[in-house]
Amino acid sequence: MNAPCREPQEQEPGRWRLTRQADVRVALADPRLQVPPPAPGDGPMARLRRAVSRFSNGAEHTARRRAAAKEYGTIAVAALRAEVGARVCEELAAARGGRIDLMPAARAIPVGVLATAMGVPAGLSGEVAEAVAVVAAAYPPGAAVEPVPADQAATRLEALLGNPEPGRFAALAVLLVQTCDATAGLIGNTLGQMLSRGARGTVDAAVAETLRFDPPVRATVRIVREPVSIGEVAIPAAATVILDLAAANRDPEVFADPGRFDPGRPERASLTFGSGHRRCPGDKAALEMAAGFVETALGCELADIRYAPSTNLRVPSRLEVIA
Ligand code: HEM
Repeated sequence: MNAPCREPQEQEPGRWRLTRQADVRVALADPRLQVPPPAPGDGPMARLRRAVSRFSNGAEHTARRRAAAKEYGTIAVAALRAEVGARVCEELAAARGGRIDLMPAARAIPVGVLATAMGVPAGLSGEVAEAVAVVAAAYPPGAAVEPVPADQAATRLEALLGNPEPGRFAALAVLLVQTCDATAGLIGNTLGQMLSRGARGTVDAAVAETLRFDPPVRATVRIVREPVSIGEVAIPAAATVILDLAAANRDPEVFADPGRFDPGRPERASLTFGSGHRRCPGDKAALEMAAGFVETALGCELADIRYAPSTNLRVPSRLEVIA
């Protein structure tokens, strides 16, 4: 049987997909491949999208990313794990051995803990998490959401963060919003793997392997600003390129037996946090918070796990356990 073709593929006119890890790395490092511009609009949500590093390119991206990194630098990352664990413990204690869907907590607790670590008064962390969840749903390009609740949530978030000047608001908000769904997905997917297979090995190894095997962020998108060659293949200007992180994480050139969930595998070069000049700056916080959540919930019994369809994310819509 012939090996499947893994060259860059034009799936439909002007729309390409990269699946080989080496090709995805090249694309992530090439400044001629840029993130798509945010949707136009005048409201608070549209203004926030236009102000964050995540949807900026060139010098603007560099400056905004630096501002977000400065805020991130104030966080005591090593303390996040225990703080998340303590809040999960409270949730499980409140469920008192009954059934509980852990996904609302997987969304709210990491965002709330991060907000507290960034200096938001602890009493406001629940409200911050609520506002961030609404903003996060409206944030990706092409999100089909009601504009009014998203605008209200963006305005509320600004107030909860103390109405900082717009550049600082964008730097704080991008950290919280990027945390929300991706970290919830990493928590849900890791618990799904560990509770269904019977937990073996360390939580940190299971989190790292879930990041590769069942990543919460499946893909990221670029627009080609000048013609480029990736591998042997020429991709023209204006093409849309899907960087398939989930496929690159199962590249047989990099991983032995890539379709097997193996927390003990020595090679860990997953692309789930991206790479190059846009690589996720919050990776350590995400790993600490996911590990803190998962290790606290490992004594639960899995009752039901469900996923809602989504193009770029894989986050359980429901993760019901017996506490
Ligand atoms: C499991 C959880 C997470 C995953 C899988 C993840 C993944 C990613 C990826 C793939 C990108 C780059 C997107 C691209 O190149 O197109 C990114 C960017 C970003 N992430 Fe994360 N992330 C996670 C959690 C977090 C957390 C906890 C924070 C904050 C503490 C964070 C902050 C950011 C920021 C600010 C950016 C934009 C960077 C830039 O504009 O250069 N992320 N993330």
